Amino acid sequence: MRMYDLIIKKRNGLTLSNEEINFMIEGYQNNEIPDYQMSAMMMAIYFKGMNADETLALTMAMVNSGEILDLSDIDGIKVDKHSTGGVGDKTSLTLTPMVAACGIKVAKMSGRGLGHTGGTIDKLESFEGFSTDMTSEKFYTQIEEVGIAIMGQTKDLAPVDKKLYALRDVTATVDNLSLIAASIMSKKIAAGADAICLDVKTGSGAFMKDEKDAYKLAKEMVDIGTGAGRKTIAVITDMDQPLGNNVGNALEVKEAIETLQGHGPKDFEELCLTLGSYMLILGEKANSIKEARQMLLDVIENGSALAKFAEFIEAQGGDKCAVFHMDLLPKAQYEIPVLSEKSGFVSKIACDEIGICSLILGGGRETKESVIDLAVGIKLLKKKGDYVKQGEPLCIIHGNDMEKIKLAKDRFLKAYDFSETEIAPTQFIKAVLEA
Ligand code: URA
Repeated sequence: MRMYDLIIKKRNGLTLSNEEINFMIEGYQNNEIPDYQMSAMMMAIYFKGMNADETLALTMAMVNSGEILDLSDIDGIKVDKHSTGGVGDKTSLTLTPMVAACGIKVAKMSGRGLGHTGGTIDKLESFEGFSTDMTSEKFYTQIEEVGIAIMGQTKDLAPVDKKLYALRDVTATVDNLSLIAASIMSKKIAAGADAICLDVKTGSGAFMKDEKDAYKLAKEMVDIGTGAGRKTIAVITDMDQPLGNNVGNALEVKEAIETLQGHGPKDFEELCLTLGSYMLILGEKANSIKEARQMLLDVIENGSALAKFAEFIEAQGGDKCAVFHMDLLPKAQYEIPVLSEKSGFVSKIACDEIGICSLILGGGRETKESVIDLAVGIKLLKKKGDYVKQGEPLCIIHGNDMEKIKLAKDRFLKAYDFSETEIAPTQFIKAVLEA
């Protein structure tokens, strides 16, 4: 077999076989296929696409390029959750203890923030001492004993995806739906869960700005998960404005805890209840959405979800007192309100811009090496549809550096648009896709 022939085949719009895809991925991993040939192949795929069988074959070839976690010794159905990323997305923090309190075991690999989106690990490090560095033995024991363990993405899971992603990043071939779906699902499948619940975001703060693209991506990912023998559900949700009110690491942790206490923002609570219900159904703990929703509301009401969160924080070395005394979490020196320069109904919030404001304040990374300031961020006081009078605060900026606060404030004001007439509420949960 020759890579040259495979490139011509794909360039001419033909279908690659399993063997051909395995040959290509193994050869690329072993450095037998050079970057320039793989770049040509990625561009051919970008233009000619891949069918469902090819996408599944590519995913499985990437899964098989590294370690595959075996969670079979842990009792019960292990359910994983994945979000395609957004602004103010603190869902894993609230959702995992909610479902764990209902008896689902959650084994999660999480990442750090990069660009305008945040990462679960950075947020959790707002608890002093918290660490995601752990041996596989500790990971498995903690899942058995606590019901939740979150560790950092290891370089051994789907390693060829990392190499290929770096190549796509510099050859303008990232934004092909099949390639994205294969990349995300290869890491999820290698992480070993029996069932996967996907939160596919759409809107100005999401990877998929267009709802139709989000739908197609969700379908491709559900097809891959199902083809790989994992029960998979995707929920398409709105990311056309930040999720909840708080953006920034410790601020998001506070909002996650408030939601576990039963007084979180409505959109965020609704997302946790929706995803959580599907996770309970995937994990065979509930037979209907109605039953699942009630179970989740009960664990919030009786405090067991919050207690589970504290138990998890402590198990990973964090100071659990901060769960019950949030003033122990990192706090910024300044809290500066940003006053609206106009009156009207908020008609648009450039969601990625709000993520960038948090980044400017020091809450995100410009490069992989950047050290982040966990205390800084933005607390939104007005969201889409709300009426604002000129001079009323739109948000409170939490910052430690007045120069950065000024930059973030100027940028923040440009992210809002207003209308004289009322705005129809946006549909937050847009669709649910099952196999
Ligand atoms: N996230 C991934 O892991 N892979 C992609 O290709 C895009 C987003």
